[in-house]
Amino acid sequence: MKTKIIKINSSPADKLTIKKAGEIIKNGGLVAFPTETVYGLGGDALNAKSAARIYSAKGRPADNPLIVHICRTGDIDIIAEEIPDIFYILAEKFWPGPLTMILNKSSQVPESTTGGLKTIAVRMPDNQTALSLIDAAGGFIAAPSANLSGRPSPTVIQYVIEDMDGRIEMILDGGDTKIGLESTIIDLTTPQPVILRPGSITAEMLEAVINIRMIINSEASTPEPPKAPGMKYRHYAPRGQMWIVIGDEDAVIPYINHRIEKDKKSGLITGVIATKETCSKYHADRIKCIGNRSNEEDIARNLYRILRELDDEKTDVIYSESFTGKGLGQAIMNRLLKASSYQILDI
Ligand code: TXA
Ligand code: MG
Repeated sequence: MKTKIIKINSSPADKLTIKKAGEIIKNGGLVAFPTETVYGLGGDALNAKSAARIYSAKGRPADNPLIVHICRTGDIDIIAEEIPDIFYILAEKFWPGPLTMILNKSSQVPESTTGGLKTIAVRMPDNQTALSLIDAAGGFIAAPSANLSGRPSPTVIQYVIEDMDGRIEMILDGGDTKIGLESTIIDLTTPQPVILRPGSITAEMLEAVINIRMIINSEASTPEPPKAPGMKYRHYAPRGQMWIVIGDEDAVIPYINHRIEKDKKSGLITGVIATKETCSKYHADRIKCIGNRSNEEDIARNLYRILRELDDEKTDVIYSESFTGKGLGQAIMNRLLKASSYQILDI
């Protein structure tokens, strides 16, 4: 399949592009598009065949449910039922934005979209191209991240093209994504809301709005059993072996350098993910400065691109510094732990 790749900004010509992209989705085709978190791979959420095509384009198991993207909160009644009040409170406060809410699904939504579940994940992305596309496509776009299954989510267009060129009808190039980590997922079908995937909307931010203590079912602390089915798969994984090193900076730097020396002697290509403050202190073949330790927004934005670069540069073994585990740091640590398949060196 020839994939059309189109740069998008807010000129009038883009209206026509968006209209065409919407038609592709309405006709059962697939379009990759930017969101504020990561690029999405969109198909018609109400068409069972589109879901099947998404799974096949990604090489993703069909029991891993998709997030449905909407552009008007009022459309929720078409795809969900028994909607609790806190849904509306959270939508009012955080939409459009990186918050995905799990509700009971309506009969309009095919089970292939929800991976056979009776529940549905919904979000409204904070990106004008995404919102216009959803509207043009009829209001409901099912979209996982636009990567091949098991690879880091794409935050820059180069990696969308690398994974999806030839597999889908169109790619909309909206530049780098703003946030860089996938949305926070919160389950509203349980008596008490549960955070299934941490993201840039943190437990503290949610608690401040709904005044209910959040239960965090973070895979970081409980690797199994996963409530979000996607979490049982090895996700966000670079091709090399990856280790997260936890400990005081004074101890971490010499420890990593010692391991690197041994790895180099065995002929391995070594990599380090470190903050700006420390990156000059490592002796690895590839050193990736992920951002200032105090600027977690930057760290979040750079993480997946760096994992991809380390892959491209054929890095065999990667050591990463660790992060706070609070606020946005929690989402960053969650993704690092998954990327490393929970390989931790606590020194
Ligand atoms: O930021 C995002 O959420 C991005 C952009 C494209 O919107 N999308 C994204 O989708 O990360 P994906 O497919 O890579 O991850 C969706 C996650 C999976 O872990 C899946 O298991 C979970 O959402 N999920 C979807 N529907 C669910 C449901 N009904 N119940 C529990 N978990 C669900
Ligand atoms: Mg994904």
